[in-house]
Amino acid sequence: MKNDSRHTNQASPDTLYARLFAHLYNPIMHGPEQGYLLEKRRKLLQRAKGKVLEVGAGTGINLPLYPQEAEVLAIEPSAAMLNYASKAGPFEASIRLMQAGIGDAEVAQARPAGGYDFIVTTLVLCTIPDLEAAIRLMSSWLKPGGQLLVMEHIHDERPSARWLQNAINPIWKRLAEGCNLNRATDRLLKEHGFRAVEEHYFTQWATFYWAVLSKP
Ligand SMILES: C[S@@+](CC[C@H](N)C(=O)[O-])C[C@H]1O[C@@H](n2cnc3c(N)ncnc32)[C@H](O)[C@@H]1O
Repeated sequence: MKNDSRHTNQASPDTLYARLFAHLYNPIMHGPEQGYLLEKRRKLLQRAKGKVLEVGAGTGINLPLYPQEAEVLAIEPSAAMLNYASKAGPFEASIRLMQAGIGDAEVAQARPAGGYDFIVTTLVLCTIPDLEAAIRLMSSWLKPGGQLLVMEHIHDERPSARWLQNAINPIWKRLAEGCNLNRATDRLLKEHGFRAVEEHYFTQWATFYWAVLSKP
């Protein structure tokens, strides 16, 4: 567990670029959100009830979508992103924001004794530096019968798109604050024992994986 903490902790300096990225995030996402993402987020988050951990809440796009029955701890390492999240209300659910990455000790300390009912990641497993360590943490923090709710863009199966994603990933990663275009997140989650209760793929500028996964 100690190693997990070290490797998944993302020091997130409050640079001018981090602030610019946070400022541009919602305007850039507006088209995709209205076009296809928001509806998928709603469908996913309506399930989240009881004790919920949202990892990498960003500007808080998900936060108004949680039902009243959810008690959400939303963690986010970037102060600039968190600043927007704090203004994303009104919220139906009870929302607590924490400036932290998934590997930070305070996140581990904050977990409920019996574990979480749900852990949520949307467009975030592409960015967490040590994805496998994060998956192990999430797996251990879910209560028996708990579920992981995910919506992530993943490495494409189409050869030309796959090639392009590999080719532009180094520059993309720099511009998009650590986001990787070429992670096989769906495969990795299953290799760590998560089982799909419901899943589907959809393709827009990239292929996305939407899933309700049961704890290993
Ligand atoms: C592309 S944004 C997605 C934000 C939001 N989940 C959404 O659906 O719009 C990725 C977020 O992951 C956060 N992040 C990066 N590393 C993280 C870590 N180790 N733990 C938690 N969040 C992290 C970033 O700061 C960023 O806000």
